[in-house]
Amino acid sequence: MQINQTKTHDLIIIGAGLAGLSAALEVIEQDPNAKVAVISKVHPVRSHSGAAQGGINAAIRFDDSWQGHMYDTVKGSWFLADQDGVRVLCSEAKDAIARLDKYGAFFNRNNDGTIAQRAFGGQSRHRTCFVQDKTGHNLLHTLYEQALKHNIQIFWEWFVTSLIVESGQFKGVVAFDMMTGETVFYRAKAVILATGGAGRIYGQSSNALINTGDGMALAYRAGIPLKDFEFFQIHPTGLLNGILITEGARGEGGYLLNSEGERFMKNYAPNYMELAPRDFVARSIHLEIQQGRGVNNEYVHLDLRHLGEEKIKTRLPQIREIAMHFAGVDPVKEPIPIRPTVHYTMGGVDANVKTETLVAGVYAAGETACISVHGANRLGGNSLLDAVVFGIHAAENSLRFMKSNDLPDYDKKSVQAAENDLNALLNRTEGERAAPIRDAMEKTMIKGFSIFRNQKLMEEGLVNIRALKERYKKVIVEDKGSVYNLDLIRALELGNMLDLADVIAVGAIARKESRGAHFREDYTEMDNENFLKHTIVTRNGDGEPKLSYKPVVIEDIEPLKQIKY
Ligand code: FUM
Repeated sequence: MQINQTKTHDLIIIGAGLAGLSAALEVIEQDPNAKVAVISKVHPVRSHSGAAQGGINAAIRFDDSWQGHMYDTVKGSWFLADQDGVRVLCSEAKDAIARLDKYGAFFNRNNDGTIAQRAFGGQSRHRTCFVQDKTGHNLLHTLYEQALKHNIQIFWEWFVTSLIVESGQFKGVVAFDMMTGETVFYRAKAVILATGGAGRIYGQSSNALINTGDGMALAYRAGIPLKDFEFFQIHPTGLLNGILITEGARGEGGYLLNSEGERFMKNYAPNYMELAPRDFVARSIHLEIQQGRGVNNEYVHLDLRHLGEEKIKTRLPQIREIAMHFAGVDPVKEPIPIRPTVHYTMGGVDANVKTETLVAGVYAAGETACISVHGANRLGGNSLLDAVVFGIHAAENSLRFMKSNDLPDYDKKSVQAAENDLNALLNRTEGERAAPIRDAMEKTMIKGFSIFRNQKLMEEGLVNIRALKERYKKVIVEDKGSVYNLDLIRALELGNMLDLADVIAVGAIARKESRGAHFREDYTEMDNENFLKHTIVTRNGDGEPKLSYKPVVIEDIEPLKQIKY
C-alpha cells in the first residue's frame, strides 16, 4: 500500500458512534465552517453504541438531583472515579437529554408527557431514560440524521493504522479505504479518539466484532498513557452466546433465580437485590453456578413472566425477540437462561476532564477514554451519557485548540514509517496466520483476567500474552489484495488487542486488592490505603508497558472503607 494522497482538515474524529457524532455535531453547530471529518471502520449506524439497550441516566425527576446521581456513580465506581469528571457527567445529564429530545429521540413517555425513567443497578432513584429496550439504536440513528442534515463529512469503512505524533504534537492520521485500499495521510490540527471499547479481547462478549480497542491502541503506540485498564466490566445478564439481555429487564422488575427457584440476590445484596451494581450481580451469578446452584450447571434464570405479556411486549420487545431467536424461549412464558458476559472497558486513554491527553491536539471521549467517570465499575446507563456529555466537551476543547493553532508542519519520514509498518505486515510471506493467535489470546484473557482473578492465573496469563506477542511479530496476511482485505484488518486488530491485553495484565497483577470489576481471590478486600489510585501504563521505547500511578480526584465525597448494597 502506498500513501499517495494527503487530505487536510482542522479536526479528525475517529469513530462515528454516540461520542464521535455528538462531537461532530457540536463542532459544526458552533462553527459551521470548521473543516471536520469523521473516520469510521463501519457505517455510522453500525457503531456499537447502537447495541446499548436499557437507557441513559439523568436526574430529571422532581424528587431527584444530580448530586444524588453523582453520589451513586462515585460509590458504584468503588471511589476510583475522579469526582471532577463525575460532577460534569451528572450535572450536565439533564441538558444532554434535552438536546437528544430536541434532535428527535423517541424517549418513552409517562401519561403526562414527561420522559419516562426506569430503575437501573446501583441507583437510588428511577433515573434511566429509555427508548423501549433499543435506546442506543434510537439515539445513534437520531444523531446520524442530524449529521446528514449538517452534511458532516464521514469516511466510513476506513481503517486508521497510525496517529502521527512528533515531539509531543499531533500531526495527522494514516488510514486506508477498506473498499479500495487507497491509503491517505489525513493532516489535521486535532483529533478526537472515539472508537469505543475493547471487549473483543475476551472473545465472546456483548461487544460487536468491531470492538477491538483500536483508538486505545493507536494512542498507546503514539506514547499516550492508558489508565485503569485492568477494570473490565462483566455484565451480569448475557445469553449463553454472549448477547446482551438488558439490565432494563431487571429494572422493569425481572427476577434472577437459581436452579432451586430461589431469588439468590437476597444472599448477596439484600437491599438492592437484582439491582445491585453489575460487579456484585455478576459475581453472585458466577458463584451460584460454581457452587452447584446453576441450571444445568451452566446458567441461571432471568424470570420476567410475572411482569405480564403487555409490559414485556411494550417495554422489552427486543429482549423478547432476542430470547426467542437465540435461546428458543419466549420470556412471556418461560424464564431466560443467562450468565455473565464481558461488556465494557472502564479503563482507556488517559484523559482529563477537558478530554485532553498527554499529546497536544489529541482528545478522547466515550468508551475509548478514561476520564475517569466510571472508576472500578460503571453503573448501567452511564455509558451513553458519558459518550454524549464528553463528546460535546471534546468538541468544545478541540475547537478552542484549532482556533489558536495553525496546521503544524510534519516530517515526511513519520508518514513513511507508518506506510512501511503496514507494508511490512502485508508483504510478509512466511509465518503464521492471525486466527490461532487470537483464539489463544481470548482463552488466556477469559482464564486469567475475568470475574475472579488471582496471582498465579494472572502471571501465567501474562507469560502467555507475551509469547503471543512474539508470535505476532511473524504473523502473515495471506490475502495480498486491496479490496476489502479483511485478512489484513483482522491482523491489524489483533496487533491492537495484544498490546492492550498486555496492559490489562500488567495493571491487574500489580493491583493487590479487590475493587469493582477487579476481584482477586488472594486479596479479597478493597485497600484504600495502598490502591486508591489510578493505574497508568505507558509504552516504553522497547514497546514494553511501563507502570506508574496517579492520584484520584476526590472533592466532597469521602471514600468508604467497605461497600455494601
Ligand atoms: O443492560 C444494558 O442495557 C446496558 C446498558 C449499559 O451498559 O449502560
